[in-house]
Amino acid sequence: MATAIRSDHLRKVYPGSTSGSAALEDLTLEVPSGRVYGVIGRNGAGKTTFVRITATQLALTSGRATVLDHDVATEERAIRAQVACVPQESRPLYFLNVEEVIYLYLKMRGLDRVEARRRTRDALDELALTEYRHRSVSRLSGGLRRRTLCAMVLASDAELLFLDEPTTGLDPIARRQVWEAIRRATHERRTILLTTHYLDEAEELSARLALFERGRLVLEGTPEDLRSRVRYPYRVTVLGSFPQEELASYGRVSPIEGGVLVFTREPEARDLARTALERGNRVSMGPVSLEDVFLEVVGRSIEEEAPPTEVEW
Ligand SMILES: Nc1ncnc2c1ncn2[C@@H]1O[C@H](COP(=O)(O)OP(=O)(O)OP(=O)(O)O)[C@@H](O)[C@H]1O
Ligand SMILES: [Mg+2]
Repeated sequence: MATAIRSDHLRKVYPGSTSGSAALEDLTLEVPSGRVYGVIGRNGAGKTTFVRITATQLALTSGRATVLDHDVATEERAIRAQVACVPQESRPLYFLNVEEVIYLYLKMRGLDRVEARRRTRDALDELALTEYRHRSVSRLSGGLRRRTLCAMVLASDAELLFLDEPTTGLDPIARRQVWEAIRRATHERRTILLTTHYLDEAEELSARLALFERGRLVLEGTPEDLRSRVRYPYRVTVLGSFPQEELASYGRVSPIEGGVLVFTREPEARDLARTALERGNRVSMGPVSLEDVFLEVVGRSIEEEAPPTEVEW
């Protein structure tokens, strides 16, 4: 499969950085084309820095990155013609209305009038913005402004889309409309680099995921790969009373309202579920969620305090 983004020992230190630590450190990864690639990590992990470097908005310090086979350091123009970006923080032009701002953006990207009109209409419809199309952007709520930005970028003909937390502040229905628009873009074989703090969203949409921690890549792979990389890939919820001392032998135990949550391996999960059911407890069991993986891997890195290297279990 072709590669949309290639990052090779990428490093970024912001000028004047006093902490002495790099925002990105030795970052090597490949984003395959035609799919959604999710980047997750806690605040300050380096996600936006990676987006801005690969979208050619920010210079790298060392290492190399290529986007659609062009070098970000020397071929920005060629890259910019083929990518579009929803930045983490930005506002569409205030003095235009919703329809005008989308249409103008598409025209500026070089689409002809007929095509720009058609794409504008479809994007308004897809993101449920048609009823707001004549409203000035300056009078929109924060979520509607965000939706307008998503509509602009998703309506474009760019081959690679950077979406930096596109659904932050969106209501649950609007979020799903953006998901649908993202899926449609991948049906057109476009590549999407998505950062998000909503791990359900990351899991739902991403073919592959990268977990950044303190500027480094600590986990990479399909959602399935990531789940299989933790020490305890199964979670069992036991509601009711169960002897605490017995539970510890199964794995990691967290108290929850009315019972416990036990992280464990598959055979132990089955055994625990059977035993708990026989004793009259209410039980549910399944593979860990991406959020469980995140909490375990990042939690471990915080405990260790040292900058993480590739995590080994
Ligand atoms: N313009 C800047 N100047 C100096 N340091 C910066 C700048 N932008 C980001 N940083 C630092 O670089 C590191 C990575 O920041 P970045 O914005 O890439 O993180 P992020 O993963 O996108 O976080 P968030 O989830 O909060 O959006 C942080 O330590 C941040 O303080
Ligand atoms: Mg960010």
